[in-house]
Amino acid sequence: MRNKILELLRGKSPSCLSGEEMARMLSVSRTTIWKNVQALQADGYIIESSPRRGYRLVKAPNLLLPAEIAGEINTKVIASSLEKIYHYRQVDSTNNILKNLADKGAPEGTVAVAEEQTGGRGRLGRTWSSPFGKGICLSILLKPPLAPRDTPLLTLLAAVAVVKSILQILPDLPIGIKWPNDILVNSRKVCGILTELKAEADLLHYIIIGTGINVNFRQEDFPPELAGLATSLLPANRGREISRQKLAGSLLQEMDYGYLDFLSGGPEAVLSAWEKYNLTLGKHVTVNTVGGSFAGQAVALAHDGALIVEDKTGNQKNFHAGEVTLGKFPR
Ligand code: BTN
Repeated sequence: MRNKILELLRGKSPSCLSGEEMARMLSVSRTTIWKNVQALQADGYIIESSPRRGYRLVKAPNLLLPAEIAGEINTKVIASSLEKIYHYRQVDSTNNILKNLADKGAPEGTVAVAEEQTGGRGRLGRTWSSPFGKGICLSILLKPPLAPRDTPLLTLLAAVAVVKSILQILPDLPIGIKWPNDILVNSRKVCGILTELKAEADLLHYIIIGTGINVNFRQEDFPPELAGLATSLLPANRGREISRQKLAGSLLQEMDYGYLDFLSGGPEAVLSAWEKYNLTLGKHVTVNTVGGSFAGQAVALAHDGALIVEDKTGNQKNFHAGEVTLGKFPR
């Protein structure tokens, strides 16, 4: 109901629309309209009301509210209706929230997005910090007909979608992907992706792709241990704030395009798009895994998304997980 009211007010803005007229258009009572307008105001929408002229939408809040991020998108699966988008001011982790929703039967394409996370999680047991209203913390629920071992391709797909959505806003940004899915600008991390699965043996129940983008962070918004390692999009936009709503909308749209292409066309499109934006292939890398580290040249991406690294004796190894350090070739 709130979204329908917003739609009507937007369509009429900057003029007013009476409660009576809205009630008639939506076949509800004037009290229902009044209650929902109050709820919108509590969400931060500035809606003027006058007894004679009715309601007028003055300003939408600068928050990742469903109606704000989905306004311009046309997706088939991901966030394909406003009811599939869950917005929170503060949560521990959007991946945790979505896991809960998924276990209760939420449909494919459900999205959880938050202004702030208090227990944001990163890869390899790290934490992910994102202060209120400055970044995008967004998780997407997918239920693809894939074996669990093929799901790393979806993480690569997500990395490509993030890069494409950022390039729509900052077309000249020197941005790229460090295997498997760290997004770097000038060698500093601007976005990380944490993919989690619920699966048994060969059966995938669901996959959650959690994306954290540092959008409007100032350097002091990062924890001290990330100084020199992380950055945001703000300096690249010469300090002018970037619309998080627009960026989150483009991200959902690019994810949806990529996912549909992948379902109909298989991994080739994902692999070639990832290669286009990658910063890893051809470089000297060290891959750190729980089993130790391996150094060599990153020579290719395997069909399942694994990174193929060749050491100086010509010995090749395929990595399905791990942390890559990019380096220069030893002389
Ligand atoms: C990484 O270590 O690079 C991955 C970081 C992933 C952070 C995102 S923010 C949204 C989602 N919720 C989480 O708790 N983590 C992911």
